[in-house]
Amino acid sequence: PYSSADKGWLRYEKRQDAPCLSRIVRHSSASGEAVESAVRELRYAILQMTGDEPELTTTANLSDTAHRPYIQLAMVSAEDLPEALQTKELSQQLGEEGFALRSLPQEEGESVYIIGKTEKGLLYGTFHLLRLLQSEGQTLTQLDVIENPRNPLRMMNHWDNMDGSIERGYAGRSIFFKDNQFVQNDGRIRDYARMMASIGINGISINNVNVHKVETKLITSEFLPDVAKVAGIFRAYGIKLFLSVNYASPIQLGGLETADPLDERVGAWWKTKTEEIYKVIPDFGGFVVKADSEHRPGPFTYGRTHADGSNMLAEALEPYGGIVIWRCFVYNCLQDWRDRTTDRARAAYDHFKPLDGQFKDNVILQIKNGPMDFQVREGVSPLLGAMPNTNQILEFQITQEYTGQQRHLCYLIPQWKEILDFDTYAKGAKSEIKKVVSGELYPYSHSGISAVINVGDDDNWTGHTLAQANLYGYGRLTWNPDLSEQQITSEWIHQTFGNDPDVVEHVSSMLAASWGIYESYTSPLGVGWMVNPEHHYGPNVDGYEYSVWGTYHFADCDGIGVNRTVKNGTGYTGQYFPENAERYESLVTCPDKLLLFFHHVPYTHKLHSGSTVIQHIYDTHFAGVEGVENLIQQWSSLEGKIDAKRYAGVMARLEHQHKHAKEWRDIINTYFYRKSGIADEQNRTIY
Ligand code: GCU
Repeated sequence: PYSSADKGWLRYEKRQDAPCLSRIVRHSSASGEAVESAVRELRYAILQMTGDEPELTTTANLSDTAHRPYIQLAMVSAEDLPEALQTKELSQQLGEEGFALRSLPQEEGESVYIIGKTEKGLLYGTFHLLRLLQSEGQTLTQLDVIENPRNPLRMMNHWDNMDGSIERGYAGRSIFFKDNQFVQNDGRIRDYARMMASIGINGISINNVNVHKVETKLITSEFLPDVAKVAGIFRAYGIKLFLSVNYASPIQLGGLETADPLDERVGAWWKTKTEEIYKVIPDFGGFVVKADSEHRPGPFTYGRTHADGSNMLAEALEPYGGIVIWRCFVYNCLQDWRDRTTDRARAAYDHFKPLDGQFKDNVILQIKNGPMDFQVREGVSPLLGAMPNTNQILEFQITQEYTGQQRHLCYLIPQWKEILDFDTYAKGAKSEIKKVVSGELYPYSHSGISAVINVGDDDNWTGHTLAQANLYGYGRLTWNPDLSEQQITSEWIHQTFGNDPDVVEHVSSMLAASWGIYESYTSPLGVGWMVNPEHHYGPNVDGYEYSVWGTYHFADCDGIGVNRTVKNGTGYTGQYFPENAERYESLVTCPDKLLLFFHHVPYTHKLHSGSTVIQHIYDTHFAGVEGVENLIQQWSSLEGKIDAKRYAGVMARLEHQHKHAKEWRDIINTYFYRKSGIADEQNRTIY
């Protein structure tokens, strides 16, 4: 039933040792569209893995069929389940989206039960069972799993425009839109929804946060029927559809002369509009809003706050259970580079922290992981954890805008894990970001994780085949931030490339090293932004240095870095809770990796590693290129063990990466050699 050329991690390759799974039993308690999807998936997967079509039956007919083990889907509330499954613990432990997998000996052999409290639980349980079936040596005996997602909201944000282009997209055109219409053939959207459900995604916004003219009309009768169609596809996979909306819609669509959130006509317009949306999409998720950011309209125009702006929309959504996801990416994008006191990194905290407690319950603030903009390395946003009385959702970027644009290999799971494990000290030790956004630290009514997705209509979804691992890993980590990098990597490789130990070993090691390699030739010591303006690809050390964007490194002949200290810098370090503020404030304790993010130091400054700043720049840039050579070597050792198409596709990208890494190395090393006049200790070639 699935149409895509590349099935990503849902390949279900044939295996010799496939357990006997010849019957799928649907308990009478289990019904609904998501259950249909689960059964369809099981059936397809079993056929792929075993070569035999499984029999589909229901509990009512079970006694009539021959005795054979089965997989049964049932609601935990069903009264006629085997006794072992009728325990109080089980029904208490299962959350709304959770599932249990249990194998039970039956007369006819070991059977597997997928138990949930809701349809969605059964769907997630099904995908989990299939994941287990594809991991090495997994048998179905003594299965005893119970899982609930840690994050209530697990979202994807598309930056797709209706003309088919994707802002910061590196994998082709939009899978939703073409020529200012919705695509006609929705096979790809179905496959996509299924991939997202398999990793637990439960909310997707389908259009760019920069809502242009045509996209503004997504909430009108012209496009709502199409939106409803996509929402229907998503619904069968347990996913709610969200739309990014234009804050100035009352003007652009409603003919009002204002979008002032405190003007009654504006509130009334949004209420009518929202009612219209829910009429066609009763389970509509809500609005994603980029307001007063990078020239987008917002409440500032009317002298109102972001609380005023978002609460007005929240009121309209409230009767239907909808939410407003309000982005905190608000900063001065018309800065004067001569002004060294304004610090873009401070902006989100300065704007939003004072508003804590003023937002309605169905508003969530969406905060990028770092205070700047998805750099290869930057500090963690100090706003995360700093608003005990305001719902927060974390925003990651899967699409590799600043991390190699899916031409360079850059596995982001290690970066995201570092961020999720970052201790904010908001309520003392062990107040990690993962606990803030899961709603464990403060009693948030809504929270979770969002990410800008890296998918387009390329055959392999993500351009670079290995960039699928970021997509997969994001979902898994969002379901459970405590999964280890190794666990996620291993799951992905087994499902995507099979169980050959060489493949598992080399692909794991390539992925594990890749972020470090990319960092080493692009972004020494947390400096960031040395990229070409606008498209952000390739080296340009001064590309943003004399610009309006607030993204400077301040390199001169003596030194480099941004002084963000409280003592004599921009004061940004003071936005962290004291433990982190002190650590970053002092050169003695500031980690090397973030040195230039927090401090301006001479090139001769000695790092904790023992090297100097300038020697570190040279060394890492040479090492980075060698790292890429090593990636190529490892990948070439897998020739013949991976199908030719995927092998060649990845190899071509690695070769490009190699060439481009040399460009980075030579430009950055030469720039800093010329600025500093200090030679490389090892006399390597610098131009
Ligand atoms: C970055 C990115 C933009 C995007 C913006 C955002 O600045 O380059 O393309 O619109 O982030 O997150 O809103």
